[in-house]
Amino acid sequence: MQVAMIGAGYVGLVSGACFADFGHTVCCVDKDPAKIEALNRGEIPIFEPGLADLVAKNVREGRLTFTTDLAPTVRNAEAVFIAVGTPSRRGDGHADLTYVYQAARDIAAAIDGYTVVVTKSTVPVGTGDEVERIIRETRPDADFAVVSNPEFLREGAAIADFKRPDRIVIGTEDERAKGVMTDLYRPLYLNQSPLLAMSRRTAELTKYAANAFLATKITFINEIADLCEQVGANVQDVARGIGLDNRIGSKFLHAGPGYGGSCFPKDTLALIKTAQDYEAPIRIVETVAAVNSQRKRAMGRKVIAACGGSVRGKTIAVLGLTFKPNTDDMRDAPSIDVITALQDAGARVKAYDPEGMGAAKAMLTDVDYATDAYDCARDADALVLVTEWDLFRALDLRRLKTALAAPVVVDLRNVYRPDEMRRHGFTYVSIGRP
Ligand SMILES: NC(=O)c1ccc[n+]([C@@H]2O[C@H](COP(=O)([O-])OP(=O)(O)OC[C@H]3O[C@@H](n4cnc5c(N)ncnc54)[C@H](O)[C@@H]3O)[C@@H](O)[C@H]2O)c1
Repeated sequence: MQVAMIGAGYVGLVSGACFADFGHTVCCVDKDPAKIEALNRGEIPIFEPGLADLVAKNVREGRLTFTTDLAPTVRNAEAVFIAVGTPSRRGDGHADLTYVYQAARDIAAAIDGYTVVVTKSTVPVGTGDEVERIIRETRPDADFAVVSNPEFLREGAAIADFKRPDRIVIGTEDERAKGVMTDLYRPLYLNQSPLLAMSRRTAELTKYAANAFLATKITFINEIADLCEQVGANVQDVARGIGLDNRIGSKFLHAGPGYGGSCFPKDTLALIKTAQDYEAPIRIVETVAAVNSQRKRAMGRKVIAACGGSVRGKTIAVLGLTFKPNTDDMRDAPSIDVITALQDAGARVKAYDPEGMGAAKAMLTDVDYATDAYDCARDADALVLVTEWDLFRALDLRRLKTALAAPVVVDLRNVYRPDEMRRHGFTYVSIGRP
């Protein structure tokens, strides 16, 4: 099948490469010429484990190409995916649909023959109706269907998630389009990934409901962690004690600095806005978003408290900047709030991240960047572990203690054991553990 993927970012590039690997012929289109030039030189603009090899293989075998030229790509395609960004709209938190609607107009002008236009971007309920209206208005003659196919992949494990999804959600009432979608995903369907067919609006809402539920689960355990700290309980034991209950499940029960990243913060906000517009407010998600945004900066105060109440003139080492390991994505990363809170309190910040420092440099000011974890710790008055990269899970504690000016470690991911850290002579603070 001929596939056009509009937007070659985290989702478009992974989806395009995976569809090509299933045997389809895929052309990824992006309006950013630098990104396309890099891809055509064989460079991958993002860090995602396994992606470079997958892209190289499919380019070599002639199933995957990249271009900035949307019209001929769409003209040849049977399925056109919209995988452009849907960030928060500045000021009000609604999803900004500018890129989706621009893509719809560009696609409309180029459609030739029956075409299934598939929204893979995370979009509010009713966006598919508007995409359909735009295409119909631009090209009353066009033969097309608009389908919602939300993407559930996680950065850092994106290829495995795309190739072995828990489920595939297809939102359309058009039988012909459903047939095209089933053909596209047939290789997965044979592997028994359930393909759920539903209405387009239901599919759009399903994506937001999934992200809002996961954000709620994280926020729940974070607040239980705060209570653990007050009553002398251990949140990791609580999480295990409830997570082994199949009705609850153990995933997303790791207490930490608050959720971040390119999806949960913006998607919870967008769902809140949609629900308010339809006069069906989802108060639980409103609370989750408010609690989480307070929490990230509160983690800065936790570090200040661990340093004896003041960090003015002190140097704080920050390990891990990206919102989670195995990605270079810095969008809404908790590290940003932690670092700015420390800088506001007069600290100098030194940081190290194996993949995120390039993106961080554009988002943070006055941060010194280190060459590795020990270089980061050198002469610092405290060390904060913000992102649990594997690289930071087995640090040489003796070496770390020698490098630091004061042996203070604030572990926002509960990577280390409190008894072991104390035995090594650290003042050790973690999340929700005595
Ligand atoms: N990143 C994730 O983990 C993830 C997971 C599931 C769903 N999503 C959703 O997928 C969508 C894309 O997210 P992303 O992280 O891949 O975004 P991204 O910012 O990495 O990529 C979007 C790309 O689209 C390009 N673009 C924008 N308008 C265009 C146009 N008119 N024509 C061609 N290219 C255009 C941009 O240049 C950019 O390269 C969002 O709606 C997001 O919520 C993301």
